[in-house]
Amino acid sequence: MIADGAQSLGGRLGGRPVGSLADITTLSFHAVKPVTSGEGGACVTDDGALAESVRRGRNHGMTSTAEERSALNWRYDVTSLGSNHRMTSFQAALGAAQLSRLETGRERRRELADRYDRLLGKLPGITLPPRPPERESSWHLYAEEVSPEDFGCPRDKVIDALRAEGIQATLHYPAVHLLAMYRSRGGRPGMAPRAERLAERLVTLPLFAGMTDADQDDVVAALIRIQSWAASRPGWAVEHGEPPAHPGQPT
Ligand SMILES: Cc1ncc(COP(=O)(O)O)c(C=O)c1O
Repeated sequence: MIADGAQSLGGRLGGRPVGSLADITTLSFHAVKPVTSGEGGACVTDDGALAESVRRGRNHGMTSTAEERSALNWRYDVTSLGSNHRMTSFQAALGAAQLSRLETGRERRRELADRYDRLLGKLPGITLPPRPPERESSWHLYAEEVSPEDFGCPRDKVIDALRAEGIQATLHYPAVHLLAMYRSRGGRPGMAPRAERLAERLVTLPLFAGMTDADQDDVVAALIRIQSWAASRPGWAVEHGEPPAHPGQPT
């Protein structure tokens, strides 16, 4: 089993860390991830034969690396198809340093996620991220669900208004089967109603290890302002469809 752990490094299932739950777990070290090497990633396995086959696959299927051949043993064989998936040493050095901060970073993001839960739990129309038993999130993302009716404002307008305040809210993710590539292969509305509903309602809020409590208070204050603005103009979203550039400012 190959598990996609691109977002879940640091998470746990039943006390077992991500990376130990499948034969191979793939990790992403893209710049927005909690551990980054700028770009790139890693495959994690405790199976020596699998590790060797991944190493060869990333190196043109060759039986030795250039570094190994720089010593006396310059001969090599090619045992499978492979490509160049090698990370540069510069990136690896950055990634190795970042890895040492994995636990402290996750701990801070967990604190911030708990704090978001406390601060946002009081706002009508917001459903907090689920916390299923036995699962500990890596807290790579904090995505909450906004009910347009109860919050008083459509989700897209919430994201637009947060961004107008300089807050990098976004969506993870659009419903995959409705993206153009999958539509061209038969993806249609109604095929995955739960994903479609969430794609219309989720908002990802900023969450990163360097975030201060004051940063987070700003995000929550902006959400409260947007909600108050919408509440003071019932029906505006339906009638006018456009959010103010800065909901906090008098119009
Ligand atoms: C679940 C998941 N899989 C795979 C990827 C791709 O990772 P990368 O961009 O490092 O190839 C991402 C990136 O965000 C992801 O979230």
